[in-house]
Amino acid sequence: MQVKTFDNTTELDTFAAQLFAEKLKDKPNATLGLATGSTPVGIYGKIIEMYKNGSISFKDATTFNLDEYVGLAPEHEQSYAHFMKEQLFNHIDLPLQNAHLPKGIGADLKSECTSYDQMLAEQPIDIQLLGLGLNGHIGFNEPDQELQGGTHVVELEESTREANARFFDKLEEVPTQAITMGVGSILKADSILLVVKGADKAGIVKQALQGPITTEVPASLLQTHKNVIVLVDREAGRLL
Ligand code: F6R
Repeated sequence: MQVKTFDNTTELDTFAAQLFAEKLKDKPNATLGLATGSTPVGIYGKIIEMYKNGSISFKDATTFNLDEYVGLAPEHEQSYAHFMKEQLFNHIDLPLQNAHLPKGIGADLKSECTSYDQMLAEQPIDIQLLGLGLNGHIGFNEPDQELQGGTHVVELEESTREANARFFDKLEEVPTQAITMGVGSILKADSILLVVKGADKAGIVKQALQGPITTEVPASLLQTHKNVIVLVDREAGRLL
């Protein structure tokens, strides 16, 4: 596991965007695993800049997002489908039919999970971008005594709903469930880029990278992967 610390967010975001650009240069039809939340916003901004200056193209790429809220239609302003369009997809040449997110609405979420896993098996992820939850979650794999391998529906922890309430008008509007890629699927990615920003994540990133490997800190399972790059800003990395 390689850890790189950055003095400022712009340098971190540029470095991360360059890793995606290099991947697409080597393999224009690469499969990219993407995340939502605050952490990747600056990275997506840099990727859009690179696309606009002609140094990156997504026309043959495929993307899979980690997760989606249960109960929010893709058009809902707080859905991750909407977030991805606003933050990235509307600004690059990725064919929208190649952009996959689990669907959080529909009568049969179980079969949605199965078909998402099937697509992932057919187009394995070359590089997976991850943020880190304050409780150690990756995707929406919350701390638990057991973790699931494949895509599944999960009950969100109260602390996760509270952390994400900043995007909603009030806490009650934050969905209680999400559909998420499992830790098994995440670990199948050829390479993983974990990005952690901010002082409030200093403790959990230390536990994830240097603590015991435990399902109670889902990100600690990344220690078992052969090709993980961790990018932290000074504040997040201060205990490492
Ligand atoms: C988002 C995701 C989550 C976030 C995590 C950190 O798709 O899977 O694991 O990466 O909750 O969120 P931020 O970046 O908002 O601190």
